[in-house]
Amino acid sequence: MSDKKPEQTFVLIKPDALKLSLTGYLFSQMSETHAGFIIAATKVVNVTKMLAEEHYAEHQGKVFFPSLIEYIRGMLHYPDIPGKRRVIAIVYQGENAVARMRQIAGPTNPHVAREEKPGCIRSLGTVITLKNDKGQEIGSRMDNLVHASANLEDAEREIKLWLQPSDIPPKMRTFECAESEKHYYYKDNGLLTEFEPGSVGFLAPGNVAWKSDLEALERMEQGKEAPCTLNSVVAKYLLNRYVSE
Ligand code: RTP
Ligand code: MG
Repeated sequence: MSDKKPEQTFVLIKPDALKLSLTGYLFSQMSETHAGFIIAATKVVNVTKMLAEEHYAEHQGKVFFPSLIEYIRGMLHYPDIPGKRRVIAIVYQGENAVARMRQIAGPTNPHVAREEKPGCIRSLGTVITLKNDKGQEIGSRMDNLVHASANLEDAEREIKLWLQPSDIPPKMRTFECAESEKHYYYKDNGLLTEFEPGSVGFLAPGNVAWKSDLEALERMEQGKEAPCTLNSVVAKYLLNRYVSE
């Protein structure tokens, strides 16, 4: 038997798809029978600002960034019903899962998707014109129903960003885990190893975490440069814990 880990990709069913009740259709399009993928994990998430900004960090500074963050947080599709603001995060597993899921999703821009790949998921999406305070057009936002990781590196980053190991059945975990030996707390954008009033505990001894997260926390604690931000480690532990604004 091969030791090679199966390939996994990260998918989000975005708020526009939930609002349009396309969830069943999308699960069907991405299913074992239709596409050959199996679900390794799934989770309904009320997306915090911290998580949204980490997920789309590569788009920080672009004209559509603020709108993209509000979109993924469900604020645009459920402006008056905060309780419905959620996405469905899914880990899919299968041969060439990353590239093949991007194919099933289709081009980012729904107009291009309809033109070039009619029938793909994003061909059902919408392009929204963005305007400034004066009503002048400044760009566009693409409400394209699903997110799918762009490459293997992003898939690992995104799976580890949105899910804790305990969200995934042990035999379906493809990234290394380890037990925390310490208590870790978060306060005012900083890391603590002892409780202070106003801090939030996110890991305790014995908790199973991504090994790469524990290594990053160790470096941060020692004041060394880490390969990721503290928020990218902390965000997943704070999901669905508090009512976010
Ligand atoms: P995603 O990350 O959501 O799977 O989409 P993607 O890889 O196909 O596209 P990406 O470039 O990562 O963009 C992320 C999301 O930002 C919005 N977008 N708007 N107005 C624009 O030019 C523009 N470009 C991107 C879309 O909602 C896109 O899904
Ligand atoms: Mg992308």
